[in-house]
Formats: sequence, structure tokens, C-alpha cells
Amino acid sequence: MRRYHVTTFGCQMNAHDSERIKGMLEELGLGESSTQEDADVLVFNTCTIREKPDTKFAAHLAQAAALKQHDPGKVIAVGGCYAEAQRERLFTLYPYVDVAFGPGSIPHLGEWLGAGGFGVARGRFGLDDRSFAGELPMHRERAFQAWVQISMGCNSKCSYCIVPAVRGREVSRRPGDVVAEVTRLARQGVREITLLGQNVNSWGRDLLPEIRTEFGELLRACDAVEGIERIRFTSPHPKDFRKPVIEAMAECGAVCEHAHLPLQSGSSRILKAMRRTYDRQRYLRLVGELRTAIPDLALTTDIIVGFPGETEDDFRETIEVVEEVAYDAAFTFVYSPRAGTEAAVMADQIPEDVKRDRIERLIAVVQRVASARNAERVGGVEEVLVEGTSRTDPSLLRGRTRRNTTVNFAGTAAPGELVDVRIDDATSTTLRGVQAVPVAV
Ligand code: 5AD
Ligand code: SF4
Repeated sequence: MRRYHVTTFGCQMNAHDSERIKGMLEELGLGESSTQEDADVLVFNTCTIREKPDTKFAAHLAQAAALKQHDPGKVIAVGGCYAEAQRERLFTLYPYVDVAFGPGSIPHLGEWLGAGGFGVARGRFGLDDRSFAGELPMHRERAFQAWVQISMGCNSKCSYCIVPAVRGREVSRRPGDVVAEVTRLARQGVREITLLGQNVNSWGRDLLPEIRTEFGELLRACDAVEGIERIRFTSPHPKDFRKPVIEAMAECGAVCEHAHLPLQSGSSRILKAMRRTYDRQRYLRLVGELRTAIPDLALTTDIIVGFPGETEDDFRETIEVVEEVAYDAAFTFVYSPRAGTEAAVMADQIPEDVKRDRIERLIAVVQRVASARNAERVGGVEEVLVEGTSRTDPSLLRGRTRRNTTVNFAGTAAPGELVDVRIDDATSTTLRGVQAVPVAV
């Protein structure tokens, strides 16, 4: 049997795309291999959001090239956002790549590999005939949790971001199709779903009038599906986070008390240059509305430091917002110019050492506020969905709270179970505890 190996970079959308890639390869009769050495088809599902994933991918590909030198029969396929950004140039940069495809062309992967086109450099890019994951074969990575794609592409124009260029304009999946997939997943034993889109809050706007609806309604429809205990979604754009969605979050029992609300910068001046279309005040007002409606809400965020023209004062405003919001967690990034984006050619790019200094200071503040948030949970009981064993201590179990914090705990539950855990310790990123014994009455 021929075997495949898929290496995935980047975000949850890419991880989900890899489930489709694997499903398609399995439909062609290939089996999964746990190592690249033993695989006949090596697939790389790439990311290009910052320079770092580009370099990481180059290192991985060099390894694959060495393997191919020993075994010229191996097929190297490169998909994802970096492939779409480079397009045909990829074959010049990496002559040993056999097949390349953009995120919109995953459905065609099977044709090339299945048609016996091995060893012939071929590729397909462009975003014309994209289709939704649920309608393609799928190899789901996890039994009790699932990603559900609700839209693809992005209509925002954030000046630093490459995503609109590589994933195209936004297309919403039909509500009936989303709910049908969620229902099917629930029947298969899935208890937690994560609705995926580049901007989930603008979902629905492009639908035909007779089925047009909006994200809050979609949350309610998913909440009504029996067996689904937890609903998450990522990512919302603060500019489109409207009242009906906040109300749906507050009223739907299954929708988790967590919002990932990318801030990017705390300075209104920089937000304007980023074309985020909200300012510091509007963002903070939204945070206030969310917290009023959902008192136990966890807030997480993405922040970029060193955007062109960012002064020390702008950076301090970012720190102020982090302290004021007191995020439960934050992903922090050094601005990375992406060819073809508006910001890449802006004057006043920030020197590397200044960016480094700022990100270190930001991380210290994030750790301080996140530690304090997590410490508030000590002494309480959290509902945890068990995912497996702890990554650092195999004698402990691992799972996540509704607020999306990882908990390592002593207990006897099986993966997929929802259990109560008494929290007795916290760090800036995880909680620790002991499974609570149900009291017989
Ligand atoms: N440089 C640094 N960070 C970026 N992000 C997006 N584009 C860039 C860039 N050019 C960050 C944003 C986004 C997250 C997924 O990646 O914070 O929310
Ligand atoms: Fe995800 Fe963006 Fe990376 Fe593509 S470029 S994998 S959309 S993070």
C-alpha cells in the first residue's frame, strides 16, 4: 500500500484543510504513515502569515529533498497559503516539488495524484472553484471535537495581512449545510465544535436573500443540535461583533464563555494605518458589552508590535489596553512585512531591535495579567472536556475548560468525557487540579 505523510503549518483553518487533504489521499487508497521516511507522498500544507513559517517550511522541505534523493519515487506536494503566494515560482525555488496547490485547489489534489501524474511538476492555484470541507472526504483528527468551516476567504483589507490575497474573497457556507454537518458530527459522538472562518461575524452577508441570515442565528441553530455540548468559533473581527451575536452567546447554553478578539494594537492611530476600522475606544466598548452580557467570559487576543510608524507612545497604548482588558491569553507577534501588502512598502519600518524589545516587554505584561486571571480560578470547580493525557506528565489527564484554558489534572476519566475538576494551582497558561468525585445523593 502506498502511504502519505502530511505536515501542517499555520492556523486552525489549515489544520482543518489538512483533514480534507488526508481524506482525499485515503480515498485514493493511500494509508497514513507516521514518518516522512516511510511515506510515498509527502504533503506540506503551508502558511505564509509571517516570515517565520516561510523559513520553517524551507527547513522542512530541505529534509524532504534529501529523502527524495535517496528515493526518487517519493512525491512531494506543497499546498496552502505559501504555495498560493508563490504560485509557479515555487517550482523554480524548489525544483524537486512535484505538485503544488493553493488553499482553493484542494479538491483537485486527488486528480493529479490519482491520475498517475507522479513525478510531473504540476500545480494549480487561484480561487475560482473553491468548495467547503464538509462536502469532501475528510479524515477527522479527533473523535469528540471537530472543526466546522462556515466561510472561506476574507473581505477585510488589513494593511499588514496576506490572507485576503491567498484565500480570496469571502464566501459563506449555506446555513442548512452547516447545521446538517453539525448534526451529523453530533450523531458520530462529537461534543465540541469550533466554527471556523477568517471573519465569522461577517458570515451570511453574501448569501442569497431567501436564505440570508447572520452569525448569531447560526450560533442558535448549532446550539439546538442535540449532543453538541460546546460551541466555539474563531476568529471574530471586532468591527463586525454586533449585539445579536453577543445575545446569542449569552443565551445559548452550549456556546462557550470565550471570545478571541484580535486587538492588533491599542493605539487608534496605528489601528487606522492597519485599516482595522475600529479604534481603541470602540474596541474597549465592545469588551464592556461582552463582559456585561457574559460575566464569566474569557477574552484572548492577537497583538502585533512594530507595525510601521509605531512609536513608543503607540506601543504604551497597547500595553495599557492589555492591562485594562486583562486578557486570559494573548498571541503576540512581531510585525513581519509580507510582499504585496500595503504595509510592506510603508515608510518608517521599525528596526528589529526595537521590535524585539517591545515584544519582550509585551510578553511580560501578558504573562502577568494572564497569571492573575488564571489564579482567580484556584479554589473553584471547572467543567473540563477530557482530551488525553498531560503533555508533560503522563500520570495526569489533560482537557480544557469552557473558557478554553488547558487543565492538567489527576483523575480517571476517559477522553471525550465532561468532568468537574477542582482547581488547586495556576500558571500564566495552564491550570492544575483534581477530578471532583460526584457526590451520591
Ligand atoms: N506580521 C505579524 N503578524 C501578523 N499577523 C497577521 N499578519 C501579520 C504580519 N504581517 C497576526 C495577526 C493575526 C494573526 C493570525 O497573525 O495578529 O490576527
Ligand atoms: Fe492560516 Fe493565514 Fe497561515 Fe494561511 S497564512 S495558514 S490563513 S494563518
